[in-house]
Amino acid sequence: VVLIICGALMAYMIGSLPTSVWLGEAYFGIDVRNFGSGNAGATNTFRVLGRRAGIVVMLVDIFKGWTATSLALILYYLDAIYFEEVNQLKLLFGILAVAGHIFPVYVNFKGGKGVATLFGMALSIHLEASLLCVLIFLIVLFTSKYVSLGSMIATLAFPILLLMPRFNPEEPLLIIFGFVLFAIVVLTHQKNIVRLINGEESRTNIRLKRK
Ligand code: G3P
Repeated sequence: VVLIICGALMAYMIGSLPTSVWLGEAYFGIDVRNFGSGNAGATNTFRVLGRRAGIVVMLVDIFKGWTATSLALILYYLDAIYFEEVNQLKLLFGILAVAGHIFPVYVNFKGGKGVATLFGMALSIHLEASLLCVLIFLIVLFTSKYVSLGSMIATLAFPILLLMPRFNPEEPLLIIFGFVLFAIVVLTHQKNIVRLINGEESRTNIRLKRK
């Protein structure tokens, strides 16, 4: 139990690492939360600090989710839990990492929208389904030019894919929590949803080919 509590705390602390805020402050002297959408995430880092910084933040934020979720495997190898409990603990640790990303303890609890960290968690839980979600995200992004719309649709796609016999996970809880996580992402995207409805959401100038 002590190891599980330590793991849970670590998962939250890892998720809390405010990559975009620290990178912006260290290399550009600005807090990304004061610019663009005000969000401490990869999308806003792309928008405010450029492509290179955006890619770094995206990769680190995905890695945070993956690492925190995979802590469950370490507990299994330490004989602290049974194999059947690994997926349940992955869910707990992953959700704590996403919560940490949204409410980071290091920077006044004002963080990002959870998507990259959530994707890292999904990668650790179901590789095939999460890679398909990336494809869905990219299709929505390239056709609509809205990152937020792509994020929400891809997040919803994850539990829906898990419902299909081909992807059926051994742990049915994953599907339920997939929908819970989608609800969390909808909550963190409330302002984006209002902007999308009003036609005011910012579009990315992403292109398949360079001009
Ligand atoms: O992952 C966050 C993205 O979906 C929206 O970010 O900065 O456009 O609000 P942003």
